[in-house]
Amino acid sequence: MGLLIRNGEIVTADSRCIADIYAEDETITRIGKNLEVPAGTETVDATGKFVFPGFIDPHVHIYLPFMSTFAKDTHETGSIAALIGGTTTYIEMCCPNRNDDALEGYSLWKSKAEGHSACDYAFHMSVTKFVKETPAQLQKIVKDGTASFKIFLAYKNFFGVDDGEMYQTLMLAKRLGVIVTAHCENAELVARLQNALLAEGKKGPEWHEPSRPESVEAEGTGRFATFLENTSATGYVVHLSCEKALHVAVAAKTRGVHLHIESVIPHFILDKSHAERPGVEGMKHVMSPPLRAKHNQRALWNALALGSIDTVGTDHCPFDTEQKLMGKDAFTDIPNGIPGIEDRVNLLYTYGVERGRLPLDRFVDCASTRAAKVFGLFPRKGTIAIGSDADLVVYDPEYQGVISADTHAVNNNYSGFEGMPIEGRPSVVTVRGKVQVRDGKFVGERTRGKFLKREPAYF
Ligand code: URP
Ligand code: ZN
Ligand code: ZN
Repeated sequence: MGLLIRNGEIVTADSRCIADIYAEDETITRIGKNLEVPAGTETVDATGKFVFPGFIDPHVHIYLPFMSTFAKDTHETGSIAALIGGTTTYIEMCCPNRNDDALEGYSLWKSKAEGHSACDYAFHMSVTKFVKETPAQLQKIVKDGTASFKIFLAYKNFFGVDDGEMYQTLMLAKRLGVIVTAHCENAELVARLQNALLAEGKKGPEWHEPSRPESVEAEGTGRFATFLENTSATGYVVHLSCEKALHVAVAAKTRGVHLHIESVIPHFILDKSHAERPGVEGMKHVMSPPLRAKHNQRALWNALALGSIDTVGTDHCPFDTEQKLMGKDAFTDIPNGIPGIEDRVNLLYTYGVERGRLPLDRFVDCASTRAAKVFGLFPRKGTIAIGSDADLVVYDPEYQGVISADTHAVNNNYSGFEGMPIEGRPSVVTVRGKVQVRDGKFVGERTRGKFLKREPAYF
């Protein structure tokens, strides 16, 4: 059956007009004024609302064994939370650790998603060691449609790779034509600083940020860029959090390094004073790289508006308060991560577009289109065009609400953004032509989500 979205203001990264959109089965087949459609077509009146391409979150953790526990969401809960927030596709970090087999890990991560997701999904494959089997294993994974890797320069002895492994991964990625995403912090310095702070009796969550200062992130970012420069590989720095690292990344881009930059929603909205709150309140806001001093946000918003920061993801990674309290005696035991999958788009719209920091076309670009382009999903995803998947977000800019764990769908007992007002939210969200969300409620098919196969593109 067809779907008609009538009379909305269609906004893509490069166009804006009031028109109707008609989707047949899963695909957009017509865009125009006053479209004639077959009797019985499901119709959504979008008058007075925006119609955006389905949003893409390029950085989420759903299944994640990490810091002696597991992130709280499953694909059942995470995908529904994503859709309520307007995200119709997410890319999950597949993260086996150094002691795991890469292929077994990849199969495990896939099995957790297959048949369990309400939105579409893809993976970045983490390379957490480089041994003799690695090239053949990664080649298989790329053939299977996972055309991006992830490396961690942090998390020594768990996810982290050393410089030699980074070099080998980048050379392989270049040969296979895939992009490498990277968590950029100097693992050695983090470990040394953590030990020094604990030895001085500095154990609360307020010491998390000083244990991974801005310079430590800037060093990791610069080193990653230098390795890209000398391998001609293409890279993507994830969750860039501060002005110092931004300068290093932008300087690399300027001299022609193939580097894309992602920042994540907590770093635009929250700051290190949140993690300095006493006890569990502070622990709720521990993530890595850490929330930073507030002045950094100005640089992030400006770079985002300019397009120097390419994408905004979430690094969605929910741990509940009981899990956070594992770190009550030492900040190094607080599971790192903040949930955000449900709130990213509304926060970006409210505190970016509505506050005059982010033009509407850049909003669509950084939260959808750019990720689709960088990760090989465009134009199937990330735009509204004939032939694209009918992933559409009818967005109500008049909605006023407040973020709260009492009403969210994320499987967690707190929100890092508790009490924050939002001005706008999706009123209808579709995945490949099927209405999945209406007025903040999931009303669709729980197993609609498909694995998105992607082709190598960076030779
Ligand atoms: O604190 C974070 N970011 N947790 C998830 C793991 C990662 O580094 O992305
Ligand atoms: Zn990370
Ligand atoms: Zn992450």
